[in-house]
Amino acid sequence: MGYFSKLVGVCAAVTLLSVAVVGAEEKDPLKPRVAPDQMADAKAMKNPVASTPESIAKGKALYEGKGTCFNCHGKEGKGDGPAGAILNPSPRNFTNCKFHKKRKDGELFWVIKNGSAGTGMVSLIPAAINEEEAWMIINYERSFCKGGEE
Ligand code: HEC
Repeated sequence: MGYFSKLVGVCAAVTLLSVAVVGAEEKDPLKPRVAPDQMADAKAMKNPVASTPESIAKGKALYEGKGTCFNCHGKEGKGDGPAGAILNPSPRNFTNCKFHKKRKDGELFWVIKNGSAGTGMVSLIPAAINEEEAWMIINYERSFCKGGEE
């Protein structure tokens, strides 16, 4: 085998390994996902469930339970759940505070209800959870961003 084909082989192996270990990349998390003609309505939606320690705890139980969110988004919210590892684009990393700053609760709700076209994020209302449960999970997902700015 010539030097060049060896090099190509090594590069391919390294690429495969890094994909297997790190998984795919997220699609730009700061770009909106809501359909443009529904954006104003989505942004105007108010979370009817106050963010309290109780609703966050309920959201956590749903996130790790019947909502099945953790399978893809990971228990720590980093987007590294066991099922998420094989998805491209990769699931949202909820520890990213910039993402939270960019999104209104209603935009998150819209994606949980309608899915994100062309990704593994499918509609989960009413398939897995009801609307009130989704709002509690949103309160929990917000809590993955620790410490505000970055
Ligand atoms: C089968 C895997 C899978 C499951 C299960 C899953 N998600 Fe996702 N989720 C994804 C992927 C992949 C993305 C990234 C989509 C994209 O980049 O557009 C995503 C993105 C999101 C986003 C970001 C939307 C945005 O505005 O960018 C939210 C919020 C979300 N998921 C909430 C949930 C909730 C809540 C649950 C559980 C009820 C859940 N997901 C379950 C795969 C999953």
